[in-house]
Amino acid sequence: MSEILVADRLSKHFGGLIAVNKVNFSIMADEVTGIIGPNGSGKTTLFNLISGFFPPTEGRITFFDNEITHIPPYERVIKGIVRTFQLVSVFNSMTVWENLVLSSIRFKEKHVSLRKFFFSSAKDKEIKENCLRALKLVGLQSNAQALTSELSYGSKRMLEIGIALSLNPKLLLLDEPLAGLSDGEISEVIDLLKQIKKNFTLVIIEHKISKIINLVDRLCVMNEGSFICEGNPDDALCNPVVRECYWGKREIS
Ligand SMILES: Nc1ncnc2c1ncn2[C@@H]1O[C@H](COP(=O)(O)OP(=O)(O)O)[C@@H](O)[C@H]1O
Ligand SMILES: [Mg+2]
Repeated sequence: MSEILVADRLSKHFGGLIAVNKVNFSIMADEVTGIIGPNGSGKTTLFNLISGFFPPTEGRITFFDNEITHIPPYERVIKGIVRTFQLVSVFNSMTVWENLVLSSIRFKEKHVSLRKFFFSSAKDKEIKENCLRALKLVGLQSNAQALTSELSYGSKRMLEIGIALSLNPKLLLLDEPLAGLSDGEISEVIDLLKQIKKNFTLVIIEHKISKIINLVDRLCVMNEGSFICEGNPDDALCNPVVRECYWGKREIS
């Protein structure tokens, strides 16, 4: 298995706060990596650095051996790094179909006028097929013309993942994809992730460890901006340092 993304001594400081502290991290092709850690341990900030939303304070990121440390988010999407957000991020005032098509067009061409979006590119055969494939994968075909604001939170989450998939990511970063969902919706998202893991390289930040334990090949644990453990999920969870950071030191009487 080869490394597709390598982060080298990656750090992010917010004033005096060190959110990510000299992290060395690599992602293997076709692997599913889980990232867990207490609230505020730096998981989302790490995604913001990889996806280009924040510039790092120090360190370097390479993707398929090309340095991407300072390139903007949309160029990273074109290169294949696509992410979803902890709070679902879709356009509520558009239909499901428009959300999908808009993203595809935005990342296909650098400059798109609104006129082109509605009258020309929306008819592009390749974009249409791509969006249709993504729509089917996330099970929202019957909602294609529905206004996004009318969808349940679970369906919006599915749409957000669908949009990400329609961009044909080489690396898909999912920030707490199960957050805010009911048990039924969680099962649907897990089934989808099990299905797509065959074709995509995934990194999943998640609090509900038990839900993703059977999905991930490798588990990384963050605490206070650093990786304190990474490896086989069962071993990582049994690691005394990890147990201490979640449950505290055991009193010895
Ligand atoms: N934009 C920001 N400005 C200032 N501090 C931030 C910002 N984003 C995150 N932080 C801080 O960085 C730390 C890590 O946050 P975050 O990466 O969101 O943690 P996690 O996703 O693991 O819960 C927290 O202390 C948080 O308050
Ligand atoms: Mg977070």
